Amino acid sequence: MEKNGKEREGVVHAETHFDEDDRDLTLRPRNIAEFLGQAKIKENLAVFIEAARTRRESLDHLFLIGPPGLGKTTLAQVVAHELGVDFKVTSAPALDKPKDLVGILTTIKKNTVFFIDEIHRLKPAIEEMLYIAMEDYELDWIIGQGPGARTMRLPIPTFTLVGATTKAGNVSSPLVSRFGISFRFSLYEQTDMEAILRRSAMILNVPLDDSGASLLASASRGTPRVANRLIRRMRDFALVSGSSSITKKVVADGLERLEIDSLGLERLDRDILRMIIERYAGGPVGAETLAISVGETVETLEDYYEPYLIQAGLIQRTPRGRIATPFAYEHLNIKHPQSNANALF
Ligand SMILES: Nc1ncnc2c1ncn2[C@@H]1O[C@H](COP(=O)(O)OP(=O)(O)OP(=O)(O)O)[C@@H](O)[C@H]1O
Ligand SMILES: [Mg+2]
Repeated sequence: MEKNGKEREGVVHAETHFDEDDRDLTLRPRNIAEFLGQAKIKENLAVFIEAARTRRESLDHLFLIGPPGLGKTTLAQVVAHELGVDFKVTSAPALDKPKDLVGILTTIKKNTVFFIDEIHRLKPAIEEMLYIAMEDYELDWIIGQGPGARTMRLPIPTFTLVGATTKAGNVSSPLVSRFGISFRFSLYEQTDMEAILRRSAMILNVPLDDSGASLLASASRGTPRVANRLIRRMRDFALVSGSSSITKKVVADGLERLEIDSLGLERLDRDILRMIIERYAGGPVGAETLAISVGETVETLEDYYEPYLIQAGLIQRTPRGRIATPFAYEHLNIKHPQSNANALF
């Protein structure tokens, strides 16, 4: 589960979700202008928000898909802020009994943005209640048991459901079809990452020079959460080494200490690549086997490590399993079996 990753202590893990993100809420963008990158999503969203505001209606239900740490929770909060409505947050595992959902939906204010994280983990009974709530703004509630049981329809305020998931494929199609708007987050571009880092540096009150920002951005695996964690570490390294700002040298030395390489790979990323190359002859190897081999859960492998390894062109996902690309061999300085030694002459 994604949760395993979140609970784990580690050098630099994207999923240490409840520590620094929450300790330093100041870094979290509050409005759409502060939410950097993801231009396409923002552009469309601004239109839908404006329309909903003009009509004084609730925004249509919103489905957010993407790897951890890219800003799904943040965007949901931004939407509530922009609409000027309440924000209520929960996660699918916390909705254990129908009464948990009833408790929330009967007490929210009109047009509240109701955020459900990890929506792929909803229980079927809750999911069915949600269908009616999303469509008709009513709850079907069964009272009593056995032959005396009866169904009650309970009207609830209109609301906007924002469902977030790292695994769109695990969300049932009846639920997916009830979201009017759906956005898929992609890893952030280098320039967006630099902008995010510059904003964070300003808030954290530490000077960050251009070459420092550039190197740090390229080591942040296209993920704002990783960038924000790294910049805090670099601030520590700068302080301790007596540097008044985060320079390229501070970043280079800091990354080395954290065992993060020039591509932003952590030790486990390299273990994954090495495992595919050395134990499985470059692949293909199935996700389960690979996860066990490196001592990780399949979820963490698929949600956190793979998106970046794929984007960086180091591995490929095929129907038969994962394959290490020639670039992975090159990056680890391992000779590719198909590279013909004679070709050099
Ligand atoms: N577009 C952005 N601009 C600036 N900072 C951002 C942006 N998106 C995310 N962040 C920062 O990254 C952190 C992680 O974002 P967030 O918690 O919203 O990710 P998430 O997609 O909900 O992750 P998870 O799937 O683990 O719940 C936030 O605390 C915020 O500071
Ligand atoms: Mg989140």
